[in-house]
Amino acid sequence: MTVASEIKATFEFKPGLEGVPATMSSISFVDGQKGILEYRGIPIQELAEKSTFLETCYLLIWGELPTKQELEAFEHEIRYHRRIKYRIRDMMKCFPESGHPMDALQACAAALGLFYSRRALDDPAYIRAAVVRLLAKIPTMVAAFQMMRKGNDPIQPRDDLDYSANFLYMLTEQEPDPLAARVFDICLMLHAEHTMNASTFSARVTASTLTDPYAVVASAVGTLAGPLHGGANEEVMTMLAEIGTVENVRPYVEHCIQNKKKIMGFGHRVYKVKDPRATILQNLAEKLFEKFGRDKYYDVAVELEKVVAEKLGHKGIYANVDFYSGLVYRKLGIPDDLFTPIFAIARVGGWLAHWKEQLAENRIYRPTQIYTGSHQAPYVPIEER
Ligand code: CMC
Repeated sequence: MTVASEIKATFEFKPGLEGVPATMSSISFVDGQKGILEYRGIPIQELAEKSTFLETCYLLIWGELPTKQELEAFEHEIRYHRRIKYRIRDMMKCFPESGHPMDALQACAAALGLFYSRRALDDPAYIRAAVVRLLAKIPTMVAAFQMMRKGNDPIQPRDDLDYSANFLYMLTEQEPDPLAARVFDICLMLHAEHTMNASTFSARVTASTLTDPYAVVASAVGTLAGPLHGGANEEVMTMLAEIGTVENVRPYVEHCIQNKKKIMGFGHRVYKVKDPRATILQNLAEKLFEKFGRDKYYDVAVELEKVVAEKLGHKGIYANVDFYSGLVYRKLGIPDDLFTPIFAIARVGGWLAHWKEQLAENRIYRPTQIYTGSHQAPYVPIEER
């Protein structure tokens, strides 16, 4: 037995930690074979039909659906913490307009820690204030960067609008259509939480050091940004444009398979059937198309889903949450590079739930590694190298 195989047998190394439990959690549940997603035991379909994003965040973070009074108080607090300090806006003015909004968001989330530096992780009032602040201010920061990179002043939040309507308003200075606002709110609910994905893992690792919640969210935003995670929704739209027509779909898929190229918006570490969120998003896209007109790439998307299922279904590769979300966001008039920041706005709910759960029974994350380097190597003086 070689040293490497001996070590492998001892530690059972799993690349990407596939199947390795990283925590005990009661926040959400996924059955990847049956296509089930539940938040605190409630099926995602039921929440999408009956709940709102802020109610869902309350459920995720505090573990139970709020009473009417509790929800009103929570919504009220968030509504009145939406504004961001002018110094944060000044900081954003220095960001290059060509920078990616996810990078801007990560910097802004981290900067909140400078302004709200009191750290009292065992004080429920501090936890509540941090939850409210992050849920309230993250959308304002995303919308402000969008306006500022176009050379405009940021639009102040409107206290008479609810969470999602206000965000859409801050992007365009126009009060959104009620259907658009409701669809957007459902999208946020669908993206709010999803067990131990990369960004949530990142949030929990950061939380386990007992740093502040702004650092927790900033590290999670950085992790979400990559194209294999939250960044896939933006890449889907680029891919649909590249394919262009229904006729090009089959050759595109065949080319990807031959060249071992990933088709964006497909595949999932856990789901081996169509992601239940993709089904809901597709329905939402169709509702929007009925009212506001069909997206020119929708037929390409439907054909792509069909051909991928035919060619890669045997490997359990089906549409994931990112496949239809871009089509929905585009119909809402949202630019492509804001799709991932919107994912982040939603996922803040899940990250905060995991932050709170981690604090309740904390042990710092400190996994091990399998060393593959040399030992007792000589130090060679620079002139002899
Ligand atoms: N297109 C073509 N083949 C694929 C795809 C895809 N999208 N996804 C997986 N495969 C193949 C892969 O080539 C491999 O084949 P083989 O066994 O023959 O080498 C097999 O399926 C297993 O793939 P993997 O990359 O080892 O699977 P993973 O669990 O490590 O990765 C994933 C999961 C989501 C990163 C991957 O499916 C992927 O890169 N998908 C495209 C990007 C994407 O849509 N990401 C969004 C994920 S869902 C939301 C989120 O997490 O943010």
